[in-house]
Amino acid sequence: MALLSLRLALALLFLRLAYLSVCRNVTSPISTPNGVYNSSTTPSSFAWNTYNYCNAPHVNAAHYTKPHVEGAEMVYMNVMFRHHKRTPDNLYPDENGLNPAGGWNCSNFVQFNYGGGTAAVYHQVVVPPEHPFLSQIWNGTCDQGQLTQEGLEDAVKHGQDFWSVYHDTLGFLPDVNPRDLYVRTSVADRTYQVAGGLLYGMDPAYAGEPFAVYTQPTNIDSLVPDYDCPLADNMRNAYQSVPAWTDHLVAHAELQARLGEITGTANLSAWTSWYDHYFDTFTSRTCAGHPLPCNATTGACVSEEDAAGVFAIGDFEYNYIWNAAQNASTYTALTFGVMFSELAANFKAFQSGVEMYRARLYVGHDGSMIRLASGLGLGKSAPLRWPALGSEMVMEVWRADGEDFVRVVHEGTPVKSLAWVPIEEFVDLLQAQVPEKLFDTCMSTSSS
Ligand SMILES: *[C@@H]1O[C@H](CO)[C@@H](O)[C@H](O)[C@H]1NC(C)=O
Ligand SMILES: *[C@@H]1O[C@H](CO)[C@@H](O)[C@H](O)[C@H]1NC(C)=O
Ligand SMILES: *[C@@H]1O[C@H](CO)[C@@H](O)[C@H](O)[C@H]1NC(C)=O
Ligand SMILES: *[C@@H]1O[C@H](CO)[C@@H](O)[C@H](O)[C@H]1NC(C)=O
Ligand SMILES: *[C@@H]1O[C@H](CO)[C@@H](O)[C@H](O)[C@H]1NC(C)=O
Ligand SMILES: *[C@@H]1O[C@H](CO)[C@@H](O)[C@H](O)[C@H]1NC(C)=O
Ligand SMILES: *[C@@H]1O[C@H](CO)[C@@H](O)[C@H](O)[C@H]1NC(C)=O
Repeated sequence: MALLSLRLALALLFLRLAYLSVCRNVTSPISTPNGVYNSSTTPSSFAWNTYNYCNAPHVNAAHYTKPHVEGAEMVYMNVMFRHHKRTPDNLYPDENGLNPAGGWNCSNFVQFNYGGGTAAVYHQVVVPPEHPFLSQIWNGTCDQGQLTQEGLEDAVKHGQDFWSVYHDTLGFLPDVNPRDLYVRTSVADRTYQVAGGLLYGMDPAYAGEPFAVYTQPTNIDSLVPDYDCPLADNMRNAYQSVPAWTDHLVAHAELQARLGEITGTANLSAWTSWYDHYFDTFTSRTCAGHPLPCNATTGACVSEEDAAGVFAIGDFEYNYIWNAAQNASTYTALTFGVMFSELAANFKAFQSGVEMYRARLYVGHDGSMIRLASGLGLGKSAPLRWPALGSEMVMEVWRADGEDFVRVVHEGTPVKSLAWVPIEEFVDLLQAQVPEKLFDTCMSTSSS
């Protein structure tokens, strides 16, 4: 009897502790995520595949293992990447005052953009000191969302690592040529530039050589994705209006007030309705070795602790919107269904022997990577994190005993649930992410 009540008491104590820890997490303003946010180089004291927001771990010869299947041979692949480091995509209302005096330097690699057969025109951004709107942009030579020199270097290294596996280790890709490699990007310069960095990393003979990458028109681009889907917008608005979402904004109100005051964003809904913009403007800075924003008038700076809190909240928000919310999987399927359909078509073409390419490479954005990860079911076993710069999802096809199998490798590590899937099943998985009559469904917002 005494033993039983002791057990009961312990159980109650355990429950109470569990309850307290839940409460503490909800009310505590900050938790610190695991990972690296301030350098492309993961410290050697960390595991090689530690989450590094500045430069995601990816496939490389030193850590690559073939599937443990006798005689298996690689026969086809699709791979999707996120671009590498860039300047912030979002600007504070009074951006100039929140940067180091030198601002951002983008004059260290040449920005070509010219009509074939004419002068090899390149552009350089200038920010005239006397410009009346100078307060809205940093000093220096960068536009918003522009790939930096360090981002380009990371892309080159990424290409080298990719090649160290698919050429050097496996001999799957014999050389870099446009007959074997189909490359698709978004229309953002940084995705062309990362594609160029990857290809050059694979084969330095491509320095300055032309190589076609394919894009879709901006308004229907399925990779970003950028096509209209009002039904999806409504759905997302609905699940970002319920406590599962709004609670975290309330719980972190003090943090938000501090950030708003320092960066001049208080009460601007683009900044207060989620932490996306703070996440972007902080990580772009820390990954580039810039200081967190400091307000020149008040002298107040965003603290490391608050930045770490924003990084953790960013993970929560990405996982919620694209993976965990009620209806998130429908939202993801609606907004990335066109891309899932293209991927399914690629693998089907391979199955039926009409695929002309050995590999298809896609260079997209965080919105591409999070949807791909969610749609492939990676968020079922653990919450998804904000896709890091240079994030990578490799879909390898292997042939063994005359049968084809898909193995998915995410951030350099094989995905347990997709370690060896018959290609038919993989195509089914992709097709299950393609809503029927997608265009009509997206446009039909009056029903129900
Ligand atoms: C609360 O935070 C602790 C420590 O960070 C963590 O171990 C625990 O899983 C969290 N609990 C919930 C419910 O998120
Ligand atoms: C990066 O952040 C970590 C953890 O916050 C810190 O220990 C380290 O000194 C920082 N490194 C640089 C280069 O700022
Ligand atoms: C940017 O340049 C302008 C003009 O030279 C200068 O007035 C301003 O203080 C600079 N901004 C910063 C943050 O130093
Ligand atoms: C920008 O980088 C280039 C190349 O590294 C360098 O020559 C130039 O001085 C830098 N500009 C500034 C303003 O720091
Ligand atoms: C999810 O969709 C269903 C069906 O349209 C709707 O009833 C429900 O309220 C939605 N959930 C959220 C959290 O928006
Ligand atoms: C500095 O803080 C003040 C007070 O919150 C704010 O009005 C101003 O916009 C901030 N400065 C910058 C450069 O954002
Ligand atoms: C933001 O809104 C709150 C509540 O309406 C108000 O008290 C506060 O002064 C506003 N802050 C700024 C900087 O406008």
